Amino acid sequence: MPELDAAQSGTFAIGGDLEVNRLGFGAMRITGKGIWGPPEDAAEAKRTLLRLPELNVNFVDTAESYGPYISEELIGEVLAPYGQGTIIATKSGLTRTGPDQWHQLARPEFLRQGVVTSLQRLKLERLDLWQLHRIESGTPLEDQFGVIADMQKEGLIRHVGLSEVSVADIEEASRYFKVATVQNHYNLTNRKSETVLDYCEKNGIGFIPWFPLAGGELAKSDKQFADIAEKHDASPSQIALAWVLKRSPVMLPIPGTGKVKHLEENVAAAGIALSDEDFQTLDAIGRKG
Ligand SMILES: NC(=O)c1ccc[n+]([C@@H]2O[C@H](COP(=O)([O-])OP(=O)(O)OC[C@H]3O[C@@H](n4cnc5c(N)ncnc54)[C@H](OP(=O)(O)O)[C@@H]3O)[C@@H](O)[C@H]2O)c1
Repeated sequence: MPELDAAQSGTFAIGGDLEVNRLGFGAMRITGKGIWGPPEDAAEAKRTLLRLPELNVNFVDTAESYGPYISEELIGEVLAPYGQGTIIATKSGLTRTGPDQWHQLARPEFLRQGVVTSLQRLKLERLDLWQLHRIESGTPLEDQFGVIADMQKEGLIRHVGLSEVSVADIEEASRYFKVATVQNHYNLTNRKSETVLDYCEKNGIGFIPWFPLAGGELAKSDKQFADIAEKHDASPSQIALAWVLKRSPVMLPIPGTGKVKHLEENVAAAGIALSDEDFQTLDAIGRKG
């Protein structure tokens, strides 16, 4: 088992100035079923958060809609005041009406409410990375992007990210503010965002692949990975994470879990160095889906 240290994944400077270890943590899974309400095992969720600084995981992704509010509240309760260099990235732009129900909402007053209340829940004076969870079709772009640019000028937000976007969306948003990160669905077997990833790499934009373990599917043993996993004395999920880390220097994976054991297993993936040959073999397997 490789040493447990997220720093082994290397670093990336978000927005050119906020350096984080590339292997981060997704805090959507420290909530209840359907990403609704408190987690079934709150003590274990808190232990998972407390383990992050010990493992050098200093990039944490959350959103006001996770719970809603529960994920941010737990992070504020357990991790604040944050260690130097810890970046808590959050989002707004989705509202919730029940378990597994998500609705896009990016009216300026809702985005502003999201930012000011995220600051309270996370016990921060400024959000280092705030992401628009979804560009909403019902609200004019200039209203959504305009309020974000305003909040950045006011100092409420340091860097801005987008989620589930195309290259055209990034270019349009860039007329209002510098896009520091993009968070799209991406993993070894879901490669729909390859073009966006290439664009991000070319432009120094951090790429945050959500669902890096395909929601746990990539943790199941897979005959096709068996040889490579065995060679590295690793699990399939660790191999899937090692692959995304090698795919691009701008890649910032945020595997999500509410369990210490899974967190430790995921962080250990930072110490796996895949050969170019293994990378290509996995790439071909992944492209088949
Ligand atoms: N921008 C967006 O629209 C968007 C959408 C979805 C998610 N996200 C973000 O992306 C993060 C990651 O996505 P995700 O959490 O949906 O999916 P994921 O990281 O691909 O997979 C998480 C699932 O896998 C399980 N798991 C994690 N580590 C494991 C391990 N080592 N062995 C076995 N099972 C393991 C977790 O269960 P346990 O809790 O039981 O470990 C959980 O059910 C989220 O936490 C969230 O921050 C963003």
